[in-house]
Amino acid sequence: IPCEIFSNAKEGSRYAAKEIAALIKEKQSKGEKCVLGLATGSTPISMYAELVRMHKEEGLSFRNVITFNLDEYYPIDKDAYQSYWSFMHRHLFDHIDIDKANIHIPNGELPKEAIKAHCMEYEQMIEDAGGIDLQVLGIGNNGHIGFNEPGSSIFSKTRLINLDNSTRVANSREFQNIAKVPRLALTMGISTIMKSKRIILMAWGFKAQIIAKTVEGDVTEQVPASILQQHNNCTFVLEENTASELT
Ligand code: F6R
Repeated sequence: IPCEIFSNAKEGSRYAAKEIAALIKEKQSKGEKCVLGLATGSTPISMYAELVRMHKEEGLSFRNVITFNLDEYYPIDKDAYQSYWSFMHRHLFDHIDIDKANIHIPNGELPKEAIKAHCMEYEQMIEDAGGIDLQVLGIGNNGHIGFNEPGSSIFSKTRLINLDNSTRVANSREFQNIAKVPRLALTMGISTIMKSKRIILMAWGFKAQIIAKTVEGDVTEQVPASILQQHNNCTFVLEENTASELT
C-alpha cells in the first residue's frame, strides 16, 4: 500500500484535503457529481477544518458533492452530541454549501425492525449515485475500518454490528462513561468500502503497530484494514511516528 508520510497530522490533513478539493473541482469542470465517502472520529477533524477553510477563503464549492458516511452508533438520536450526524454537521456540513439532500448518514434512530431495509437502501443509494469516487478512512487500533471489527467478512455490506469492547473504550472519551457508549452500530461493509474508486486512509498518533500489520502483514479478516492491500487505488496518509514500524 503506498504511504505518504508527513511530519505532523496537520500537513497530512492538508494533503488529503487538497486531493479531495482537486477531485471536486475536476468533477465540477465536467458538470459531474462527486461522491465522497466520509469518516468521523478524531482523525479527520483537521482535514474537515481545512476543507471548510478552502470553502471560506478559496471559494471551494460543494454544490456538486454527494456524501455517504461510513457509520453511526445504534441506537442514537441525531441530535445527541455524540452522534455521527452531529459530528458531521459540527465539523463540516454546517460550514459549507452542500445541498442537505445530498448528505447520507446511516440512521441510528430507526426501530430495529426497520434496520435491514434501511441498510439495503443505503447500499442502493450508493449504487444509484454511481458509486463512491473517493472514500476517506481512519483506522481503529484493532484494525477496523468503518465499524468493521476483526472477523468481518470481505463480502460484508452495510449492516448492524456489535462494537468491540476496545472500540467502546477508545470512543468513551466522547461519552460520560463507558456504560453510555452504544453497544451496536450501523456500518458500511468491507465490500462496500472496497468498491470505492479511490481510498485515502489517514492515521496519526499511536497507531504504528496496527499500521505495520495492515501494510506489511498477511491479508486477514482478523485485521480488517489489511484487505486494503488488494485495492488498486488506495493510499495511506501517515504521520512520521505512525509510520515508524514500517520496514
Ligand atoms: C469513524 C470510523 C472509525 C474510525 C476509527 C479511528 O467513522 O469509521 O473506523 O476511523 O475508529 O477513530 P479515531 O480517528 O478517533 O482514532
